[in-house]
Amino acid sequence: PEPQLSDAFGRRFGYLRLSVTDQCNFRCNYCLPDGYQCSEKPTYLALDEIRCAVAAFAALGTRKVRVTGGEPSLRKDLPDIIRIVAQTPGIDQVAITTNGYRLLHAVQDWADAGLTHLNLSIDSLDPAQFANITGHDRLPYLLQGLDKALALGLKVKVNAVLLKGFNHHQLQDFLNWIRKTPVSLRFIELMQTGDNQVFFTEHHVSGDEIRQQLLQQGWQPRLKEINAGPALEFQHPDYRGRIGLIMPYSKDFCASCNRLRLSSVGKLHLCLFGEQGHDIRTLLEAGKEDLLQARLLTLLGEKRVSHSLHQGATGATRHLAMLGG
Ligand code: GTP
Ligand code: 5AD
Ligand code: SF4
Repeated sequence: PEPQLSDAFGRRFGYLRLSVTDQCNFRCNYCLPDGYQCSEKPTYLALDEIRCAVAAFAALGTRKVRVTGGEPSLRKDLPDIIRIVAQTPGIDQVAITTNGYRLLHAVQDWADAGLTHLNLSIDSLDPAQFANITGHDRLPYLLQGLDKALALGLKVKVNAVLLKGFNHHQLQDFLNWIRKTPVSLRFIELMQTGDNQVFFTEHHVSGDEIRQQLLQQGWQPRLKEINAGPALEFQHPDYRGRIGLIMPYSKDFCASCNRLRLSSVGKLHLCLFGEQGHDIRTLLEAGKEDLLQARLLTLLGEKRVSHSLHQGATGATRHLAMLGG
């Protein structure tokens, strides 16, 4: 059989999250602290390095690549990145996670380049609250962009991080919205990072609370598809949209982990939390695809059973913009 990316716990990794920059133009209050200055720009992965990385992963069974940031659309060559990923033999899903800043104007180019899936962060449907959380008064523009993405046939998910005191009482607004909007709306439990420890204590909400409310309102749990992501999904006959709950603090969240991460400077991260990453840049620069495959198979042996969030540890993760979530 062909070599496959799998670990000591029997998990298979058919999904690569490729971060292409760690810069972000938003300042979401749960992610980047007030006044945060991005680090001086390092040299981000070049197109040839991206081509080499994706080819090596695809040869080892990767079928889905999600392009992340920071904010990936800050890279002017994003359409080229999407095209390279889409044209790699073996890759059949090309996804992006974006804050939507350029969505309306750029999504046509992304779709033309081969994008198939798009995740968009919308932490509130109230324009003032949206601006309050993200620092950008841009909700109407994002919603227009979202309509355009749907019209282009992209599969769209919307992310909202649950925040006590900000959006946690707006569940009904979100539900009303997906009556007619065919998106998968995911509520994400706030995760503690190195930079948001105080914020975390004050604003974390358990996804279980939302789960109870959904069940009371007739939402039904959906069976998980094979290779599905970490979200618990719900559906309702009266709604075109679905709900997903992403609850990293719940038991067994990591048991179905199916993803690996490559940072924008060429480090392989076996987990979102708790490690510095393994530098594979030299191999990428040299375009050594076969050596890279061998290295990836070895490194996977070091993947741990679970993240360390339950112990209050955040490891080397200062904020999620570093790695794109
Ligand atoms: P798809 O299943 O591909 O749609 O994606 P996703 O939900 O993994 O992607 P997205 O980029 O929208 O991520 C949503 C958020 O879920 C991430 O930013 C994290 O906050 C959380 N998340 C996703 N994967 C993991 C993971 O492996 N560990 C932890 N702790 N959180 C994750
Ligand atoms: N906890 C949970 N989700 C977070 N995101 C960013 N930082 C955090 C955090 N500390 C989310 C963003 C985006 C996704 C990539 O990760 O809102 O939707
Ligand atoms: Fe907000 Fe994402 Fe930027 Fe963090 S990386 S500030 S979550 S848009």
